[in-house]
Amino acid sequence: MAARKKLLLLPGDGIGPEVMREVKRVIDWLDRKRGVTFEIEEDLVGGASLDARGTPLADTTLALAKAADAVLFGAVGGPAWDGMGFDRRPELAILSLRRELGLFANLRPAMVYDPLVGASPLKPEIVRGLDIMIVRESTGGIYFGSPRGIETLPDGQRRGVNTEVYTTHEIERVGRVAFDLARKRGRVVASVEKSNVMESGLLWRQTITALRDAEYSDVTLTHILADNCAMQLVRNPRQFDVIVTSNLFGDLLSDLAAMLTGSLGMLPSATLGAVQGDGKQHALYEPIHGSAPDIAGRGVANPLAQILSFAMLLRYSLGMEDVAVEIERAIVRVLSNGLRTADIMSTGAARVGTGVMGEAVLRELDKAPG
Ligand code: IPM
Ligand code: MG
Repeated sequence: MAARKKLLLLPGDGIGPEVMREVKRVIDWLDRKRGVTFEIEEDLVGGASLDARGTPLADTTLALAKAADAVLFGAVGGPAWDGMGFDRRPELAILSLRRELGLFANLRPAMVYDPLVGASPLKPEIVRGLDIMIVRESTGGIYFGSPRGIETLPDGQRRGVNTEVYTTHEIERVGRVAFDLARKRGRVVASVEKSNVMESGLLWRQTITALRDAEYSDVTLTHILADNCAMQLVRNPRQFDVIVTSNLFGDLLSDLAAMLTGSLGMLPSATLGAVQGDGKQHALYEPIHGSAPDIAGRGVANPLAQILSFAMLLRYSLGMEDVAVEIERAIVRVLSNGLRTADIMSTGAARVGTGVMGEAVLRELDKAPG
């Protein structure tokens, strides 16, 4: 029998633990009903770790993440830690995990589930059937470039510096992820930068073009400036299939794309590293939504993005496409049955809390053929 896969659960702060609890029920269900058993570790991260250990990501936690086949992350941050210095912010946990595990490709799907088309702030005819995949570079660019810092000038003014920097290698490896994904989808990649004002953007455009010509001539490539992309995403989002872009632009555009769906509580994400010599690939999965401190602890958070992140984990890290699809279908059926958490509530639907929503997913899973 194959060795059990090791999963590290990092629920984090705010609603993180509540929505992770519902994933644990799905994990139990797989164990009981499908004989799929994982080796599960769980640890503190973010503000919870800061409070208990004085650091948002302990070395021991990082070691567990490196040893795991995949990491399932909840959310971090909250008002309690807002005043902390840059080196003691809960957000540092996710940035350090990306950096230390080499998770350079952040996959952020934005899709509109048919039963939720009314939740979008855009007209149904603009978003119905929307299915975009944003591939955001996530270990480089201005998030990590040097020089960086805040310095005091001789005249007493202060000066803040960050540096946008990309090498061809960094652009090519994230480009390959985007082109490979496009091959499994609509075979169209839009590469997004600001080559009209930034050298790093010009290099981005040239490198992606050369990669496409050399290795992916079967994929259609378009180039679009980041500001125009933001506009096009609102004007006609369905023109996009796969979008590939830098860390900062990807951060902005993925929030924008997520909001097109009107339901942040529904969107998962994956962040993948390189496939290593032994075939192992580090990967972290997390919902797009944050820790939502305003509703934390009230049992009203939507657990579906966290469960969908687990489905992505099964698909991309464990090759369990069939189970991933089963979970995704169960979720669509729950929505079709009219169950809604507060964030996706619409008139005529039944409003439920976190636990009832998780339970409903299990009951739909029960109905699926084994
Ligand atoms: C995201 C978040 C993070 C980022 C923060 C929490 C550091 O906004 O994952 O999009 O900027 O990458
Ligand atoms: Mg963000």
